[in-house]
Amino acid sequence: MADTLSLAGANATKKEKYELLIPQLKALVAGEPDLIANLANLMAALKEAMGFLWIGVYFVKGNELVLGPFQGPLACTRIGYGKGVCGTAWKEKKVIVVADVMLFPGHIACSSLSKSEIVLPVFKDGEVNIIVDADSEQLAHFDVVDQQYLQQVVSLIESLL
Ligand code: SME
Repeated sequence: MADTLSLAGANATKKEKYELLIPQLKALVAGEPDLIANLANLMAALKEAMGFLWIGVYFVKGNELVLGPFQGPLACTRIGYGKGVCGTAWKEKKVIVVADVMLFPGHIACSSLSKSEIVLPVFKDGEVNIIVDADSEQLAHFDVVDQQYLQQVVSLIESLL
């Protein structure tokens, strides 16, 4: 695996950043069987390349989500089923994009700096196993480009389960 990331230039589009990043994410986890180690490096690479305020995972454990590897400010350690954006994405088994977190009923504010958010479920045997959450300091930061490429990250994580 590479030990440094190749990053797009300052003028690169979001799509160009993801295009450069995704193959590196695949290389990063190739040959390493430990899930926590892989998730830790994936989140670090995403944070560095994409500049999110926060990106991390929550594991489904019983009737709660429990915090896993992340990069960014301290986060809530446990989220109930159906609670917040993460718990809702788990319950509804679907991607949720929130343009303004203040307008999402029941949003859980881990950091007051977070203005918008995208949450994607990771499936194992047809059930949600992990939740991927990314937060931005900008309103309406996440769009179809983020959804498309972060879904590729989800598929990569699913291949590790
Ligand atoms: N905002 C999330 C909680 C997780 S943090 O943003 C890291 C939610 O409403 O589920």
